[in-house]
Amino acid sequence: MTKKIAVLPGDGIGPEIVAEASKILDCLRREFGLDVETEEALIGGAAYDAKGTPFPEETLKLAKEADAVLLGAVGGPKWEPLDYSVRPERGLLGLRAELELFANLRPAVLYPQLVAASTLKPEVVSGLDIMIIRELTGGIYFGKPRGRRVNEKGEREGFNTLIYSESEIRRIAHIAFQIAQKRNKRVCSVDKANVLECTELWREVVTEVGREYPDVQLSHMYVDNASMQLVRAPKQFDVMLTDNMFGDILSDCAAMLTGSIGMLPSASLDKNSKGMYEPIHGSAPDIAGKGIANPIATVLSLAMMLRYSFDDAASAERIEKAVIAALDAGYRTADIYSEGMKKVGTAEMGDAIVSALRSLN
Ligand code: NAI
Ligand code: MG
Repeated sequence: MTKKIAVLPGDGIGPEIVAEASKILDCLRREFGLDVETEEALIGGAAYDAKGTPFPEETLKLAKEADAVLLGAVGGPKWEPLDYSVRPERGLLGLRAELELFANLRPAVLYPQLVAASTLKPEVVSGLDIMIIRELTGGIYFGKPRGRRVNEKGEREGFNTLIYSESEIRRIAHIAFQIAQKRNKRVCSVDKANVLECTELWREVVTEVGREYPDVQLSHMYVDNASMQLVRAPKQFDVMLTDNMFGDILSDCAAMLTGSIGMLPSASLDKNSKGMYEPIHGSAPDIAGKGIANPIATVLSLAMMLRYSFDDAASAERIEKAVIAALDAGYRTADIYSEGMKKVGTAEMGDAIVSALRSLN
């Protein structure tokens, strides 16, 4: 059965990086017989400009009927003045919520070729391979009540609600333990249980779920310490399990350990492993339209799609090998450039990966 991928390029560098992932997909189709078809739709600011909403009905329909979604990025200064309800980010949050993509997998791997691109000392980061598992459909980004108001003193107030149910914590904890079983069998759950009741429950439920996985070692860490440890000694971690907001922040921090946010893919899965795949970076308005964005995070997101949603580890490994080959050949976009390497743009990096992929055939 032909698999269908919904392709949502979005805004800023989104279309540029998605174009390179599409080249890889074409190559896999042509040369390796991968049986997939794609269909594009609008999301984010691009959708708002064309249809007056960042999350059109037909985009949701396509995403629902597809077997997986590949997304670039959304947002940019152009849409910042808009009301929150029609901001580009609403398209992304809407998609995550509608598809119930509660499990966000963010690997942070430092490729040996890029040790020089990390701001940390080689001995601290070389060989780094951690997996951050972030809860994605609950917590403070979705909790109600939320909003702004004027209080009795006539002062403006803003408020959001941090809320998690037991079942929401339980299902993301199971994912973390199951992934840890296939890795180094360690889960570090990150919370702020000393201050926030909600995350005290988080710690309790994760501990309960952990009893079902006696082969996995569970530890807990407060988020402030975890952020410090990520920079001090990141290799102590294997799987990190976090809520929505802490995961947002910690995974960007972990990204930086690997040299560039332009290298980091992500998967967001529902309970049947249907998923949305996207780079963890945003639309990078500062470099949009210049043809210099790093497409590797998006290309590696495609590899994750093949692995987690299509159960096609062979194709995923081909892509990963091709990326490594392009790095070995010295190709570097500006964000991962170091002296003596070949500085290339977005499309040239895509071409280098395609040609490495071809030579695997
Ligand atoms: P950003 O991730 O877009 O950019 C942060 C920095 O990293 C910038 O200097 C950018 O040039 C650089 N960068 C990002 N991706 C890169 C790549 N592939 N290659 C080379 N350099 C890269 O985050 P920022 O600046 O906070 O947000 C910009 C816009 O993106 C905002 O409108 C924000 O709301 C949106 N955003 C969207 C996300 C998404 O669609 N998933 C996630 C994060 C932000
Ligand atoms: Mg973020």
